[in-house]
Amino acid sequence: MQVAPSILSADFGILGDEVKAICDGGCDLVHVDVMDGHFVPNLTIGPVVVEAVAKASTKPLDVHLMVENNTFFVNLFAPLKPKYISFHLEEEKHPHRLIQHIRSLGISPAIVLNPHSRVEDLEYIINDLDMVLLMSVNPGFGGQKFIPSVIEKAARLKELIIQKNASALIEVDGGVNDKNIHALKNAGVDVVVAGSYVYNSEDYAGKIRSLQI
Ligand code: DX5
Ligand code: ZN
Repeated sequence: MQVAPSILSADFGILGDEVKAICDGGCDLVHVDVMDGHFVPNLTIGPVVVEAVAKASTKPLDVHLMVENNTFFVNLFAPLKPKYISFHLEEEKHPHRLIQHIRSLGISPAIVLNPHSRVEDLEYIINDLDMVLLMSVNPGFGGQKFIPSVIEKAARLKELIIQKNASALIEVDGGVNDKNIHALKNAGVDVVVAGSYVYNSEDYAGKIRSLQI
């Protein structure tokens, strides 16, 4: 299981140190939550701050867009060369086109599904994706309670990936901890995001390791 700590729960007064700490702590990716105050009722960080994150990080960035104007934000963050950019299917009229655009920028495209969104809607684009991110909370804030239906959803997504002979990874984001990690693993999840579980502890490395099962 790969672990992508979300810097949303980090201490932004010492953000560079907080990013270095999770990288030194053995994380696989650094998860960056971009919120525009429109798609979700919260506003986070733009390219100036994410550039500082990229400089402090020794691990690839996983940029999660929670915004209304996806293409604008993709173009804004692309120069920082994240490994992944994920966008919400609920907020995109032309997902197939945007996937191709992200790939043309040399970045791995990923799609995010909110808790209510159907895995079946990915049937004809799953082969174009490098990752699918399933939200296990409603997007907008860290520290929320895990929504257990994502386990069944991840298992269905895994079936679809196998059926279509696709290679997309499955990532789950929200409320992940040492209590639900085994069920996520059994459902076929490859990557977990963990914000408060890692950053609200004294031992980032230990928390990261506890999820790398
Ligand atoms: C929520 C964000 C998550 C969040 C996860 O909208 O996408 O990445 O930071 O935080 P925890 O792990 O605390 O639920
Ligand atoms: Zn996220």
